[in-house]
Parts: sequence; structure tokens; C-alpha cells
Amino acid sequence: MSPSELAAALERARRRTEDLLEPLSDEQLTQQFSPLQSPLVWDLAHIGHFEELWLLRQVGGRSAVSPEYDELYDAFAHARGDRARLPILPPQAARAYVRDVREAVLELLPDLSRENGDPLLSEGFVVGMVVQHELQHTETMAQTLALAGLARRPSVMVGVSGEVTVPSGPFTLGSTVPWAYDNERPAHDVELPQFRIDRTLVTNRDYAGFVDAGGYSDRSVWSVEGWEWRESEHAEGPLFWDPGAQPDAPVEHVSFHEAEAYARWMGKRLPTEVEWEKAAKTVPGELEHMTGAVWQWTSSAFGGYPGFRAFPYAEYSEAFFGDEYRVLRGGSWSTDPLVARPTFRNWDLPQRRQIFSGLRCAGDV
Ligand SMILES: [Fe+2]
Repeated sequence: MSPSELAAALERARRRTEDLLEPLSDEQLTQQFSPLQSPLVWDLAHIGHFEELWLLRQVGGRSAVSPEYDELYDAFAHARGDRARLPILPPQAARAYVRDVREAVLELLPDLSRENGDPLLSEGFVVGMVVQHELQHTETMAQTLALAGLARRPSVMVGVSGEVTVPSGPFTLGSTVPWAYDNERPAHDVELPQFRIDRTLVTNRDYAGFVDAGGYSDRSVWSVEGWEWRESEHAEGPLFWDPGAQPDAPVEHVSFHEAEAYARWMGKRLPTEVEWEKAAKTVPGELEHMTGAVWQWTSSAFGGYPGFRAFPYAEYSEAFFGDEYRVLRGGSWSTDPLVARPTFRNWDLPQRRQIFSGLRCAGDV
């Protein structure tokens, strides 16, 4: 990729960050709105630190701007709820740091666009990783703003109904695009039996039907883990879901457990992530809001595809493989289209619902 193409991608991500943060006061940037989220100014400097780490240091061979940032802005070192108490950069210094890193990166672009056999540089991969990292953090920051009641949400409505049968047969799961993450690779053929999938997302009206019919007290529709979560003190009922929300809009802020219980109450189930991707790739014209509305919970645990190889670091995805995390597919109103490709795999804990998460039902034929 040419230096100017890489510069344009970096610039696009930065504009998204700036659009989001520009209207906010210093107090809003440093406030801990929720223990589930970092203060926004942490996200901002963390974006710069990731860029410094991978582009200036790893590829560019520069030394660290400030050695203590490695620990302060390491997402694994401190829980989100503790980050406001750390000696993190205040807004003005964070902005300056992020700007200085970007200036140095732009000077380095001719080197970053070189093909020298280093897989990090192949087709601009490492720049693509930094761009997508920033774009994904803009969604994390939008979640923080939503919890603070400050999000600017577009209005998205559901306009179709019914379901589609996806015929049996093979398809290619995963991605071969140059900027795909390690967890989307290697692309490989998978054979699935036929299945049904809803043409659109579950709406607030649909979900209110479940709530009003006593779905939260109906043990039979919850899994063992779901009911345990349901019984815990934090889960008396819908929490982040807003019963006053527009009835025709997709339901949002439901946990995996709630999504699973709703689907079972409907006599349906969640799709597996493989079914979801097959539907997205083979019958896209039949389906509404596969991206651009809400992330869609699938029944799949997060794991590596056969032949998975961590690249360029295990902490991006491999560290999360196992039974604990569930995969979400699609992309929300806050997800940049560069990230929201049909092969992109998002994951989160089954109790999480501060994210922009909803569901689409599926079923056997
Ligand atoms: Fe990050």
C-alpha cells in the first residue's frame, strides 16, 4: 500500500476519535462514568501508546517516549474501573502525546509502506492494525458516552420480518483480506446443514413482549448459567435496556444470557457464528441490518480456527479463547465499516450489556 493510502486510513480513524471527543469538557474526559469503562482520556492516550508501540518502536526502531506509559496504558495491567486513579496524562498532555506520535508516524510512512518480507509490513498490515485499534476504541468510548447519557445515536428501524432458509452445503469461513485479524484466519471451507435465520433483528416491541409475559421469571427459557446470572443481585430484570425506546428499533444492551432466553422463549435459538457468517456471505440481500445497527450475539464460544496462529501478539485474541467469552457478529451503529466486515469476530463476557448488543434469531429446519 502506498504511503498516501496508509495516511488516509490513519487520518480517517483520527477524525472519528476527534469527532467523538471534541465536544467534551476536560471534566468529562477525566471522569469515571462507570466501573465498566475507562475514563475517556485513558482511551485517548492508549490509542497513541498503541500507535507508538507498534509503528514507532516495533517497526521504526525508536525508543520509548516515556517508559512508564507501557504499564499505565497496558490494557492488561489495570482494570478499567481503576484507571482514573492512576497517574494518567491529563487531557491536554494526552492530546499532545497522541499528536506527536502521529506526526512522527507520518514521517515514517515511506518505511511503513515498504515490502521487505516482514509480515508486519505486508500490505500495510501493522498500520491497518493500528487504524482498526483506534476505530475499535471509538466504539468503546461511545459505550462510555452512552452510559453517561451523552451518546449521539442515529435512529435505526427494523423494516422487514420473516425468516430465510439457508441451504446446506460448503462455504468459506474466515478472511483472506490483508488487514484481517489473526482470529479470522485461516479461511477454510466448512460444511453446514440447512438452517433458518431471521431476516432482521429482534425489536424493542418484540423484547417488551418477552418482558411483559414474565420471561424474566420463566426458569424454563434460561440456561443454568443464565439463570444463575438472572438470580444474582445485579440482574432483577432488564437493566440497560430502555423499555421506553422506539418499539420498531432493534433491542439494544441485552446480555448473551438475555438474548439466549429470548430466543428460547420464541421457540428459536441464537445462530452459531458460522451460521451467521454463512448467511452474511451467501444470502446478504435477504437480510436486514447485518451491520450498522447492533452487534448480534451468537451461541459460539470464542476460539481459534483450525490452523490458527497468533499474529502479531497473543494478547489480541488468543488470550481470550475458551468457554468464557461469546462471539458477537455484525457491527453496531458505532462500528466503522472498515471493522464491520462479515468475517470480523467480536467477543465479550455473557453478562455484558453496556455494549451495543442485540440479537437475530435462528432455528433448525
Ligand atoms: Fe486497546
